[in-house]
Amino acid sequence: MNLPKHLAIIMDGNGRWATARKHSRLYGHVRGARAAKKIITAAAELGLPNLTLFTFSTENWSRPELEVSFLMKLLERQILREQSTLMKNNMRFQVVGSMQKLPESTRKVINATIDLTSGNTGMNLVFALSYGGRQEITQCVRTIAEKVRSGQLSPEEITESVIVQNIESNFLPEPDLIIRTSGEKRLSNFFLWQAAYSEIYFLDKMWPDFTKDDLYAALSSYTKRERRFGRVTSHASSSVEGSTYR
Ligand code: IPE
Ligand code: IPE
Ligand code: MG
Repeated sequence: MNLPKHLAIIMDGNGRWATARKHSRLYGHVRGARAAKKIITAAAELGLPNLTLFTFSTENWSRPELEVSFLMKLLERQILREQSTLMKNNMRFQVVGSMQKLPESTRKVINATIDLTSGNTGMNLVFALSYGGRQEITQCVRTIAEKVRSGQLSPEEITESVIVQNIESNFLPEPDLIIRTSGEKRLSNFFLWQAAYSEIYFLDKMWPDFTKDDLYAALSSYTKRERRFGRVTSHASSSVEGSTYR
């Protein structure tokens, strides 16, 4: 099976999942975390090299304070609890996003886990946390502008590859496949630059209900797609070659 080198997931719908069951939105996040754990294991078992989970967006800071602080605590506890699993499965933990905005205790656990797993060579597990595509691009523009100001770079030398070199998440290949649960059909500021040619798979299920089988279905759909990157299919190109209009 032609697996994506980088799978990214927008884990959406925790709140609606809970509200529909007359629970608080917070309980939805607890169940969402449980679903994430299962999917991380399944992805590692499949041998996916890179998995990014959109965990918290820059815009999510505007949610009620109680929900934000609950999410931060939940995240902190889950990462701490999963350290041994990460080690056992040879997974490397990394993050993208504005870490300086996180509470200090959360940041500490994250940094400790990044350090602990830095020598692991299995799946790269990346949490997009306090992450926004626009913010990442803005930061990249700032870095490049500084290089121009200091004379390291001239404006004519700014190419796509210079942008890629200066973007924070450049340790990851572009996502081949992005999955979004909850029925919303948008990117919500996720990987804006990197998603230019990503395949996108939407499903109506809320994130806490997402199972291994849903993951396999998404991967199976991905393997059947033809990624043309603006070119024509090999079949179509041979028919052009054979035509009289050459
Ligand atoms: C995704 O679920 C989790 C985060 C964005 C942190 P939501 O909390 O967005 O759930 P809905 O979309 O409101 O149902
Ligand atoms: C996207 O979900 C962010 C995460 C899943 C972390 P949102 O719930 O924040 O997105 P919108 O508000 O529906 O676009
Ligand atoms: Mg949502």
